[in-house]
Amino acid sequence: MSSPEPIKFTDGAAYERFMAPWSRSAGALFLDWLAVGPGLAWADVGCGNGAFTEMILARSAPAHISAIDPSDAQIATARQKISAKQVELSVGDAMALPYDSARFDAAVMALVLFFVPDPHKGAAELLRVTKPGGMVASYTWDVMRGGTPTQHLWEEIDATGKPAARPPSADVSRFAALKALWAELGIRDVETRELVVERTFADFDDYWLSMVVSSPSGIVGKLSDAESAELKRRLRDRLPASATGEITVHAWATAIKGRKAA
Ligand SMILES: C[S@@+](CC[C@H](N)C(=O)[O-])C[C@H]1O[C@@H](n2cnc3c(N)ncnc32)[C@H](O)[C@@H]1O
Repeated sequence: MSSPEPIKFTDGAAYERFMAPWSRSAGALFLDWLAVGPGLAWADVGCGNGAFTEMILARSAPAHISAIDPSDAQIATARQKISAKQVELSVGDAMALPYDSARFDAAVMALVLFFVPDPHKGAAELLRVTKPGGMVASYTWDVMRGGTPTQHLWEEIDATGKPAARPPSADVSRFAALKALWAELGIRDVETRELVVERTFADFDDYWLSMVVSSPSGIVGKLSDAESAELKRRLRDRLPASATGEITVHAWATAIKGRKAA
């Protein structure tokens, strides 16, 4: 089998159909659990098209959010959606954040750490930019235990003989790996939590458009018309529809939070 292309998020509008609804459901649970008070400075690292940034704005009444992502296209979409003056959007990498040390009250990654090539370096950067006593937190889909919304899709693409790309640092989605990482970095008051969500698609066509056609480059790869038809048939068989044709998919994520030593 050939190796898949890496997953790349290069289309903010497609992300809106593919992952943003998932990001909003899980992000709401994550933010409620973080329970960070109002009037604080946040870093939203790997902000993508701003889906989670908007959640911070709506639910946590921040004084400021520095939101950053390596994808120009995702940041361009975020700029179109978010005009709040307390949000600063920029292009950059989690492994070398362009921020001074000890600048933020809360530094978070939502659905990002498993895409960062060196999760230790990414988490160390989150910690560096956090003020003493501030919150350092992350959540990712529980990839290793099948919790990703794309799990069915991955398995059925694999079955075509052209394997689907997975996040490059998927192992960090395990609770044990997350806890070990936060402990290595000396983060205090560490807690973990599973975030369980579901999404209902109006019908199979809605699922196909949202989760297959709109998926980022690398997941589905280049399929011939015949392979695409076969994938559609397999997914239709695999995903049970309700009496009214709706399809409900479940997913779950592993979350971790802690505080920088004062
Ligand atoms: C699944 S999206 C999550 C976006 C957003 N945080 C949300 O919750 O909707 C993953 C994001 O991680 C970003 N990403 C990938 N590698 C990264 C890196 N090295 N540093 C920062 N962000 C990265 C991608 O560009 C993409 O926007």
